[in-house]
Amino acid sequence: MLNNPVSSQVPSVPERIHCVFCVFTLFSASVPQFCNSPTMIVMVGLPARGKTYISKKLTRYLNWIGVPTKSQFDLSSFSHDTHQSFIFLQFLSLCIYECHFSPRACAAAALKDVALYFTKELGQVAVFDATNTTRERRAIIVSFAMEMGYKVFFVESICDDPEIIAENIRQVKFGSPDYADRDIDEAMEDFTQRIDCYRASYMPIDDEKDRKLSYIKIFDVGSRYLVNRVQDHIQSRIVYYLMNIHVTPRSIYLSRHGESELNLLGRIGGDTGLSPRGKKYASALATFIKGQKIIDLKVWTSHMKRTVQTAEALGVQYEQWKALNEIDAGVCEELTYEEIQENFPEEFALRDQDKYRYRYPKGESYEDLVHRLEPVIMELERQENVLVICHQAVMRCLLAYFLDKPADELPYLRCPLHTVLKLTPIAYGCKVESFFLNIEAVNTHRERPLNVNITRNPEEALQTVPDHI
Ligand code: F6P
Repeated sequence: MLNNPVSSQVPSVPERIHCVFCVFTLFSASVPQFCNSPTMIVMVGLPARGKTYISKKLTRYLNWIGVPTKSQFDLSSFSHDTHQSFIFLQFLSLCIYECHFSPRACAAAALKDVALYFTKELGQVAVFDATNTTRERRAIIVSFAMEMGYKVFFVESICDDPEIIAENIRQVKFGSPDYADRDIDEAMEDFTQRIDCYRASYMPIDDEKDRKLSYIKIFDVGSRYLVNRVQDHIQSRIVYYLMNIHVTPRSIYLSRHGESELNLLGRIGGDTGLSPRGKKYASALATFIKGQKIIDLKVWTSHMKRTVQTAEALGVQYEQWKALNEIDAGVCEELTYEEIQENFPEEFALRDQDKYRYRYPKGESYEDLVHRLEPVIMELERQENVLVICHQAVMRCLLAYFLDKPADELPYLRCPLHTVLKLTPIAYGCKVESFFLNIEAVNTHRERPLNVNITRNPEEALQTVPDHI
C-alpha cells in the first residue's frame, strides 16, 4: 500500500491532518460577517455525469451577469491522473482509498483556496467541482462553510443511462490530453472501473436525511429536477439557469444587420434602413442560411429597421425582440465619433477609460446591455438552432457570453458587418466559425486609443476612428 504511486503525490496522513487544522484555524479565528454571504456551489455525482460541464457553464453565466465566480477547486485532481490510475485501481478499493486519503485532508487544500478566493479576490461564488459522493465529505464542506459564514448550494447530477454516460466519456474525457496516447477501449475500461470504485461508496443526497440542505438534483441531463430549500436570489437564478440549459447539438448564428445608411456616414445609433450594399448582404445572408440546411431555424431580430429589413430578405418567419435593440447612446445618438469628441470631449475620454461601465448621458452602458440581454441568453439556452440578427454592441455582449470573455475585453470584440459567426457548443466550450459573405461594408470598429486621459488632444482621441464618408 505504501508503495502506491499515488501516495507520492499527496501529503502523508499526519501532514494532511495538520493541513486541515491550519485551514480551519487560519480562517476561523474571526468569522467574517458578510452582508451578502458568498456562496459555495458544491457539485455531487459519479464521474462522467457532466459535473464539469455544468460547473464551467454556470461559472461562465454568473461571470457574464456580473457575479464574480470561479470553478477551479478540484480537490481530487491527484486521483484524476490517468497514468497512475491503472495501477492505483488494481491495488485499492474505494473503501481503502477513503481511509487512506482522508477526505478531510483532501478537502482542506481546496477549501483554503475557496476562502482565499472570497477574501483576497473578492469572489462571490465558488463552484467546487469534485465528486463529493460521500456524506462525510459533504459534511466537512458544510461545517467549513458555516464556520466561514458562506452559503452552500449542492448541485447533484444523477444519470443511469449507459448511453449518455458512454457519450460523455467519449466526448469529454477522450478529448483531453490525459487520454491522448491511450487505446480507446482500454481507456474506457479504465474509466468505467473508476466509476465503479466511486459507486461503492456513493451516497446520493437524501431527501429525508439532507432535508436541511439547499440543493438541486438534476436527473438524466435535465429530464427531471428536484429543488430543495433555495435560500436567496442568486440560488434561484442558478436553479432557473440550470433548468433552462440543454445538451442537444445545435448551432447559433450571430450576424449584424446589413450596412445601414448611418453606418456609411460613420454615425452611431439611429434607426435608418439598409444601404444598397446592406441590401446585397441581406440577400447573401439568405443564400448562406439556405446553404446551411438548418433544421427548424428560428430567426430573431431587434425592433430596428435595419435588422428587420435584413431578416425580410430571408423570406421566413422571424421574431422581434426589443431587448436586441442596439446600445442607446443617449445624447450621442446619430453623432459621429468626431462630433462626440467635439461636443463632449470629457465623455468621450471617460468612455475610453472604462468602456464596459461607461453609461452615455441619457443612454446605456455595455453593463446595462448585458442585463437587458439576459432573457435573450436564457431563451437561447432553451432553443436549438437560432439566427440572431442584431447590432455591433449587442453582438459583442452575446459573443462574450458564449466565448467566456471578460468585461474589459467585451466592448472591443470584433464583430464586423457582413460577417456571420457560427457558434457550435463542444465539450466545455464553443467552436466559432466566421463567414465573410463577400459584400464590402464600412468598418465600424474603433479600437481603444493609447491616450485615454481627459486632457488628451483631439488627434489622440480620434486616432482609432475608422474611415467613413
Ligand atoms: O456604429 C455602429 C454601432 O452599432 C452604433 O450604433 C453603436 O453605438 C456602436 O456601433 C457601438 O459600438 P461602440 O461601442 O464601439 O461605439
